[in-house]
Amino acid sequence: MRIVTLPGDGIGPEVTEEAVRCLDRIAQIRGLTFSFEARDFGGAAIDAIGRPLPEATLAACRQADAVLLGAVGGPQWDGARERPEAGLLALRQALGLYANLRPGRVVPGLEALSPLRPELARDVDILVVRELTGGLYFGARTEGEEAATDTCAYTREEVERVAHVAFRAARSRRGRLTSVDKANVLATSRLWRRTVTEVARDYPDVTLDHLYVDAAAMALVTRPGSFDVILTENLFGDILSDELSVIGGSLGLLGSASIGAGGPGLFEPIHGSAPDIAGQDVANPTGALMSAAMLLDHIGHADLGRVLVDSVEHVLLTGERTRDLGGTAGCAAFGAAVREVLTERLAMAAAA
Ligand code: NAD
Ligand code: IPM
Ligand code: MN
Repeated sequence: MRIVTLPGDGIGPEVTEEAVRCLDRIAQIRGLTFSFEARDFGGAAIDAIGRPLPEATLAACRQADAVLLGAVGGPQWDGARERPEAGLLALRQALGLYANLRPGRVVPGLEALSPLRPELARDVDILVVRELTGGLYFGARTEGEEAATDTCAYTREEVERVAHVAFRAARSRRGRLTSVDKANVLATSRLWRRTVTEVARDYPDVTLDHLYVDAAAMALVTRPGSFDVILTENLFGDILSDELSVIGGSLGLLGSASIGAGGPGLFEPIHGSAPDIAGQDVANPTGALMSAAMLLDHIGHADLGRVLVDSVEHVLLTGERTRDLGGTAGCAAFGAAVREVLTERLAMAAAA
């Protein structure tokens, strides 16, 4: 398995390192061959090469079995001709990664980490399926001193293909799908709602409902336990998934898988480069570890992905936590604790 890593900027390299170490440990114990190849990306690539997504990086990603990304961006590149974030968008588009899966849950026993009352936080287990290569992010843009425009565009086909991903996911979970839009105002949202309603005919076993995004933002904190899969367009998905992450306690908890046309998937935590805490060994690597678990799942090792998720959750339950969750463990120490549990569990499984 050839895995390209794009550590990127800020805390990206710190959290990616922990994910690589866990994958490496799993591979060692199971006798798998994972090769890791780090490439320049984001602000680091702007500094090294002058562009956020160098040709060589994209070529390496295309040839990989999977890509593991840290985070990009930071204030030092705010004035750059091409921002680090543009490299991320270009990569998602180039690899055709139109569906971004962002699972977030409140681990039973960890309700106290949630800013919500425990009775609200209990049993939260939501998958956000975010459309990733359309909408406002990729529409025509003009930018002048006195005026600027962004265009939101979607085609039926773009909505259909991501809807199928979400319905299939709902089918394998609790069979409920909530589509989130702004169909009371936006034409793209009316197309979205019509199309999702049509796709639903192929999935009679899935219960579909629709919410406007403002009401969804509200419902996510008043009745989070009532959601199963949330399907939404690019920008709404970006915003709602950050909201979902803190229901579990921190933005640092969520990983994601970006998938699409069948080429290599891109696995990345949902958080950013966190310049405010970069280089201090205090970042929470959980999002990166969850992304690594999704990577394992995607390359045919769902059992190993499960062990990794269970190990992370076990460490969190023992009270070893990073600062964002009120703990004192460093990023590296948390990763080491996960590897210890992982090693035990894999040894136990081998003995059984
Ligand atoms: P951010 O996600 O980087 O940070 C928001 C807050 O959450 C900060 O206080 C940060 O310290 C904290 N945080 C984030 N991840 C954490 C973790 N793993 N452990 C502990 N605390 C964590 O968002 P921002 O500050 O709005 O953006 C900073 C930069 O990151 C910007 O350049 C932005 O564009 C970029 N960004 C990149 C990605 C990505 O690469 N996928 C995602 C979001 C933001
Ligand atoms: C994310 C980030 C990115 C996005 C930015 C950095 C382009 O916020 O992955 O959630 O908005 O998609
Ligand atoms: Mn985001």
